[in-house]
Amino acid sequence: MAKQILLPDVVCKVEKSGNRFNAWSTDGTKFTSEITHGCRKNAFNGDYLIGRFVSTNGNKGTSWRKVTDKVLSALENSSSINTTSNTDNVSVDVPSDHAEVLDFIHTSYSLKPTALMMSELKWKYLVRSAVRGKNIMMTGPAGCGKTMAGKAVVNSLDRPDFYFNLGATQDPRSTLIGNTHFDTKNGTYFSESLFVKAIQTENAVILLDELSRAHPDAWNILMTVLDYGQRYLRLDEANNSETIKVAHGVTFVATANIGNEYTSTRVMDKALMDRFTIVEMDVLSEEDETQLLNYMFPHVDSKTLGNVAKIASLTRTESSSETARITSGISTRTTVELCGLLYDGFSLEESSEVSIYPQYDATGGVDSERTFVKQIVQKFCDDGSSDDLFNEDEMAEAEATN
Ligand SMILES: Nc1ncnc2c1ncn2[C@@H]1O[C@H](COP(=O)(O)OP(=O)(O)O)[C@@H](O)[C@H]1O
Ligand SMILES: [Mg+2]
Repeated sequence: MAKQILLPDVVCKVEKSGNRFNAWSTDGTKFTSEITHGCRKNAFNGDYLIGRFVSTNGNKGTSWRKVTDKVLSALENSSSINTTSNTDNVSVDVPSDHAEVLDFIHTSYSLKPTALMMSELKWKYLVRSAVRGKNIMMTGPAGCGKTMAGKAVVNSLDRPDFYFNLGATQDPRSTLIGNTHFDTKNGTYFSESLFVKAIQTENAVILLDELSRAHPDAWNILMTVLDYGQRYLRLDEANNSETIKVAHGVTFVATANIGNEYTSTRVMDKALMDRFTIVEMDVLSEEDETQLLNYMFPHVDSKTLGNVAKIASLTRTESSSETARITSGISTRTTVELCGLLYDGFSLEESSEVSIYPQYDATGGVDSERTFVKQIVQKFCDDGSSDDLFNEDEMAEAEATN
């Protein structure tokens, strides 16, 4: 029998918008949030289409890959997907009429990616704030989905989008304003930053990731930009220096780790915080966490996934109790990473050892945070998720009860 070609169920073309690469399917649906940045970027630079293939062994059930000519012609023959170029994107253009705005906001839950766990109310509030041109600040502890939600809302609006990670830049001035260069031909000249271009792009949505970790210079520079009454960027410290106006309709979405467990977070200026509408990301409940992990890892034993959610939930409850013996709970980012290890054949104990324990201080020996978390994890390690952990007594006991 001839080998059947595996066909994708969705085909996307990647377009560049601002400094982001967006993936549009042939029927105009935006799939950006489902596809890794690297995959989208490569497709754009290599000028090829990418498709969603049901994977035979992937942890999410699907994977995005290049659509080869062979697949393309097979697709055209099967005609299940229209691969002819899509020029008119059926976009989620933000309406201007009030009734339409209301309708847009209240039906927007369908725009939320399935993989993002967020309550309907919070999501709608986020979309509403974006549609209303508010400066939005996503807050919450590390690894609770702030960046993910920020990117998702940016993706949901069909507007030019820009991404800046302010936690990663050492030199806010060059990221936000630009650099002064010198060469013998032109003398001294100024090259403006991409941020300068971004704020001059009408209706742009600008993601300012990790604003809480940014250098205080970045906060000072952004102060006038974010102020609804000012909305300009000053190119130089001098008070009478040139300014650049923020274009009409520009929306800012920032993220901030709020929570004392994050020591590298600088305490943000109150005046800066006041310029934002705060959207607080909820830490997932045990039930939601279980649902998320089961959705992401359908091939991992569901009972073990439930235990991972339980462990995380126990640490979160402990960390917020008055007599807390640990300063922070296990984040969703960590549970997702841990389940990736389970999927790759590591036991719960092994996975915890490499992904959870290093996050907890081991000083103080038996009284340390690490020992405390280990004890919680251990309770769930002898449940069959890792067979070789049974000791002889437990084996005998288990057999006796059978
Ligand atoms: N609410 C959530 N819903 C779905 N996945 C989440 C959520 N929170 C965290 N994650 C997982 O953790 C990873 C890190 O989340 P991220 O948005 O980068 O966290 P933050 O920006 O709050 O530190 C995500 O890629 C996702 O796999
Ligand atoms: Mg983040």
